Amino acid sequence: MKKNLIRGFEGILHGGDYNPDQWLSRPQILDDDFKFMKIAGCNAFSVGIFSWANYEPREGVFDFSWLDSIMDRMAEAGNNVMLATPSAAKPAWMSKKYPEIRRVNRQGIRDFHHTRMNHCWTSPIYREKVGQINTMLAQRYAGHPALKAWHVSNEYHGECYCELCVKSWWKWLEEKYGTIERLNDAWWTGFWSHRYDSWDEIEPGDWVDGMRLDWRRFNSWQMREFMLFESLPLKEIAPDIPITTNMMGFYETVDYWRIAEICDFISDDSYPDWLGGEDQIIQAARIGMIHDMHRSMKKGSPFLLMESTPGSTNWKKYFRQKRPGVHNLEMMQAIAHGADGVCYFQWRKGLGGGEKFHGAVVDHSNRTDTLEFTAVKELGETLPKIAGISGSSSSSPAALIYDWEIRWAIDCSHGPGSADFKKYVDTCVSHYRQFWRNSIPCDVIESLSPFDSYRIISAPMLFMLKPAVAERLVEFVRNGGILVSSYLSGIVDEFNRCIPDGWPGMGLRQLFGVREETVDGLGPNDKQSVRFSSPIGEMKGDYPASEYCAIVHPEGAEILAKYTDDFYAGSPAVTVNRFGKGYAYYIGARLSDEFHKGLYSHILSRHFGPEMKFFDFPEGVSARVRGEAGREHLFIMNFNDREVSVNPPAGFAEALLGPPLSNPMKIPAHGVSVLIK
Ligand code: GAL
Repeated sequence: MKKNLIRGFEGILHGGDYNPDQWLSRPQILDDDFKFMKIAGCNAFSVGIFSWANYEPREGVFDFSWLDSIMDRMAEAGNNVMLATPSAAKPAWMSKKYPEIRRVNRQGIRDFHHTRMNHCWTSPIYREKVGQINTMLAQRYAGHPALKAWHVSNEYHGECYCELCVKSWWKWLEEKYGTIERLNDAWWTGFWSHRYDSWDEIEPGDWVDGMRLDWRRFNSWQMREFMLFESLPLKEIAPDIPITTNMMGFYETVDYWRIAEICDFISDDSYPDWLGGEDQIIQAARIGMIHDMHRSMKKGSPFLLMESTPGSTNWKKYFRQKRPGVHNLEMMQAIAHGADGVCYFQWRKGLGGGEKFHGAVVDHSNRTDTLEFTAVKELGETLPKIAGISGSSSSSPAALIYDWEIRWAIDCSHGPGSADFKKYVDTCVSHYRQFWRNSIPCDVIESLSPFDSYRIISAPMLFMLKPAVAERLVEFVRNGGILVSSYLSGIVDEFNRCIPDGWPGMGLRQLFGVREETVDGLGPNDKQSVRFSSPIGEMKGDYPASEYCAIVHPEGAEILAKYTDDFYAGSPAVTVNRFGKGYAYYIGARLSDEFHKGLYSHILSRHFGPEMKFFDFPEGVSARVRGEAGREHLFIMNFNDREVSVNPPAGFAEALLGPPLSNPMKIPAHGVSVLIK
């Protein structure tokens, strides 16, 4: 069934953050904006994200007249407005009059006004002010024809250690643990005399791994709770208008699965580094994984790429301009993975402020023949051609588990190895890349998500086992699923306490048929490899290992490869265990992309054969199918800096976009081909 992001709009949203309040004294610019929006084929704008000081220049003095006029012009132009709540940036008078609204850092120092998203999560005064302005916006614009969604705040992030937030932390802990004894047990507070006798003794600190993890959870909960709070008047006054907030990919400190639960649709901000070469391919896989996660958060329904840039990003190390075709490729990738809209930060570059060099649709020259404008305009002409896919959802045979709480548990543990060794996200990407390079539709799920619809699940570094996850994985494999996991899995429980009786714990030892005793963190003078004793698929010989090598004892699994060096030479490094109707693979060491490529290709062909052989395209090319059954669109995306030759699969009758259909087909560097049935 079709599920469009915005009621009454079929097609792909295209537009960006529009900040007309920076230009009110230059009315000609606003006229140009509306003219240029049409030329660029843009139809969707986020408005008012940082406009509070313009709505309420002095306390209690409100002026919405400029927004009234913008909303009317938007409606007249047939544009869709995602109206923001302005809570991400507060007016200076408010910071001055009510210091409690400003965040306090870890060292106990209250922040200056100076930036955005630096408000306290708990302050009753801030909440009162946010509640008031959001209510006024909802009352004023609920029935406005241009209003199509609420853009709630902007990129929630950050933490506050003020007295109010610490009190809220105590309350959160009490609700979670019920009794202080339970907390002492969960946090193992016998360590360094950390035992607590009452909630108000618990200062957030760094040396109790369980506390560190809970502080992350609490902080993430604060953001969710703040979003719920500020969405209340929107939901009450304008119940038919969907709400969303812009996420930031794998941003470390927010568990976006919990934010997703309160969004009507998912939005994301994405600023990839397109640096060319192999870096670009890895980046493409990473961005594909993020998109797949956003699609998975709403069970396959479309999401919105809320922010991206048609040019280059001012805050990145390399102010690299997009090479020809790259903008189209980046936007098509989002759409191919499930986006029903691609928008930019921002529509027009400001002349001053901190983002005057950030890419935007219209630059300081106010021309429509710039690199950026041209790229946007070309896309604006292209999108209507694929409008038919909007609202379509999808399902995947494969899933990869990327879980914020697992990441936090790893990062909040002191060891094994230093923080720069852990690389949980990169490890997940290196496994995801194997589905991506084979163009296998893959969901990106959390460990609490249901597993039963998948044929294969990859769960690298499944360090923490939340309740029932181990049992559900056992069930999954018993019923015929294929599971791939790695070193440092099943190590701690939900409180970040080590699981006794051998790793991977909670029954996973039996599932994998191995016991991991510990990991050897390789130092600068160590050398280690894994060796296949007999060829596995196309894999033979030695593969160099780095950083983590688990020391493993077999407990029934078949050994596929062994270590070559040092005191554990000859012990198992890669194993597979038949369990029920399925198989559980265990990769003991951190290994290269070449290794993963070979192993996954073996696993996929051994267990699924042609079923998982979707397409056979060259390296750096990935494909996705979208659209209703019988009217599928196949997106073939070339992330290489050179032309590639591909053999289009049978059954596609016409090239909707890109080079004409032929066999073989040549897809230019950074090119995209869309074929239809
Ligand atoms: C985002 C933010 C935008 C803008 C953009 C620049 O993180 O939401 O307001 O600052 O970055 O890349």
